[in-house]
Amino acid sequence: MNFKYDFTVKDVSDAYDGVVGVLWEVLMGEHIHVGGEKETERLAKKLQVNDKYVLDICSALGGPARYLAKNFNASVLGVDITKTMLDKANTRTIKEGLQDKIEYRRGNALDLPVSSNSMDIVWGQDAWCYITDKSRLIYEAVRVCKQKGKIGFTDWILGSTPLEKEEADTLFEFMIFPNLETLEGYQILLEENNCKVIEVEDLQDDFAIHLKHYLEKLVGMKEVITQEFSAELYEIAEAGVKAWKKAAEEGKVSRGLWIAEKV
Ligand SMILES: C[S@@+](CC[C@H](N)C(=O)[O-])C[C@H]1O[C@@H](n2cnc3c(N)ncnc32)[C@H](O)[C@@H]1O
Repeated sequence: MNFKYDFTVKDVSDAYDGVVGVLWEVLMGEHIHVGGEKETERLAKKLQVNDKYVLDICSALGGPARYLAKNFNASVLGVDITKTMLDKANTRTIKEGLQDKIEYRRGNALDLPVSSNSMDIVWGQDAWCYITDKSRLIYEAVRVCKQKGKIGFTDWILGSTPLEKEEADTLFEFMIFPNLETLEGYQILLEENNCKVIEVEDLQDDFAIHLKHYLEKLVGMKEVITQEFSAELYEIAEAGVKAWKKAAEEGKVSRGLWIAEKV
């Protein structure tokens, strides 16, 4: 079943301007994706980002951008819609003296403020799940990529076990996801947009393990979160992460990785 919810880019941006961005950083660190720095390293090696010009679509706090600049000498352009995330990304980038290697632009992934055929690598980590129109998103990612350039990303997706509507309501509303792709769905979109798909990986087991770990971490931080934010926020977060962990363990949701080349 193809679930659709009426969350807009403003809903997501307002959330990341507020407590959502802070809470995810508390749980995941400044690489706000499953697996943190290790996953950035893994994707970077697969995409051979050394000395390349990389576009990070939904760059958030710029943790991955700084990692690629420092460890792979990549030049990075980060695009994100949320002002607070961009401000923090800029401050941290300047603090690390990386401002000559990294630029951030405010913009919507569905209408990227980036010239066509300009990027060696187009990159994304666990964020495209927020984007309302996946077909337009992939069109844009391919548009800005140079011919023979690579598009590589990870994302949260629907799993192979069917999800009930009631369960989907809980999961999507907690995460503010307007919809989710499938493993095959992204592959088809890439192929329809003039790409040769090189690698597709279903990371479901790893996803479930990480969600268990994030839940344990959250429970361990109950007092801090309750004091610094509120008891209500803690309860919502715990129920949400619990629901995602359960669904991942049952194969109803997953996480995937895709590597493609623009033909
Ligand atoms: C989970 S965080 C991204 C994490 C980041 N990729 C990383 O690995 O550190 C989600 C980010 O996506 C951004 N975002 C969501 N929808 C967007 C859109 N339509 N265009 C641009 N940015 C968007 C949010 O502002 C937020 O900063």
